[in-house]
Amino acid sequence: MAAEDSAVLSARGISVRFGGLHALDEVDLEVAAGRVTGLIGPNGAGKTTLFNVLGGLLEPVAGSVHLGGADITTWPPHRRGRAGMARTFQRLELFTGMTVEENLTASWEAAHPGAIFGRGRPTRKQRVAEMMELLGLERIAGRTAGELPTGLGRMVELGRALCADPRVLLLDEPSSGLDVGETQHFARILRQLVAEAPHNGHDAGQPLAILLVEHDMALVMEVCHVITVLDFGRRIACGSPDQIQGDPAVRAAYLGETDVA
Ligand SMILES: Nc1ncnc2c1ncn2[C@@H]1O[C@H](COP(=O)(O)OP(=O)(O)OP(=O)(O)O)[C@@H](O)[C@H]1O
Ligand SMILES: [Mg+2]
Repeated sequence: MAAEDSAVLSARGISVRFGGLHALDEVDLEVAAGRVTGLIGPNGAGKTTLFNVLGGLLEPVAGSVHLGGADITTWPPHRRGRAGMARTFQRLELFTGMTVEENLTASWEAAHPGAIFGRGRPTRKQRVAEMMELLGLERIAGRTAGELPTGLGRMVELGRALCADPRVLLLDEPSSGLDVGETQHFARILRQLVAEAPHNGHDAGQPLAILLVEHDMALVMEVCHVITVLDFGRRIACGSPDQIQGDPAVRAAYLGETDVA
């Protein structure tokens, strides 16, 4: 499969400067349907900066971002959301006073304006129930989100993002605060999500595309189909987990940091 053909989200030649610092220098990235794409690199490599460019929080000085064929480089975040982009945050962002079920329902309603009344209601109930089942949240549906431990909070956040029926999902350090068992569970769900046919209106028939920015190397190597590596604002490698682990430039970049082997 040529990544170019199936890229749902792509960034081309992205450059970002903070004063004199080249945080990103002509970086390319492709996020394809039915794939988990990893974005890794040592501290300060530019991962969060690129993530923010994709999400519309930061405008690049050069380059363009495309979503499903549209040039979205100058679109604000909410417009990207309506076009099928969903994201999670490194710090949990939930409605802490609402229950788990209410959090998911509110997200569905925000993403489907006008469908709250009448015919939209059965769809809403069904989607929220499906999401809670997939993520193992049924038994805590009535618990207040703000009282949950981080691991469950992350699942609720993922559920909220999925209830918007995205075509592309951007995940920022989703394993932070999770223990080993929870991380394994999270990994299984990510693989399942991209393998499934979508239920939504965006790109009918195309599975979800996921971009994973993550420090946990074991998770990245287990779950990603393809990985892009940044170092000092440049893309130094792009390939399968095996290719990345064997890449001398990647090993050199990580020298003295996390072991990529
Ligand atoms: N708002 C900002 N103002 C000035 N410099 C910034 C700003 N944001 C990031 N930088 C710098 O840009 C470079 C890239 O930072 P970025 O946060 O994108 O890296 P990262 O790969 O996400 O790192 P980490 O793994 O530590 O999260 C770093 O040198 C950082 O210090
Ligand atoms: Mg970062």
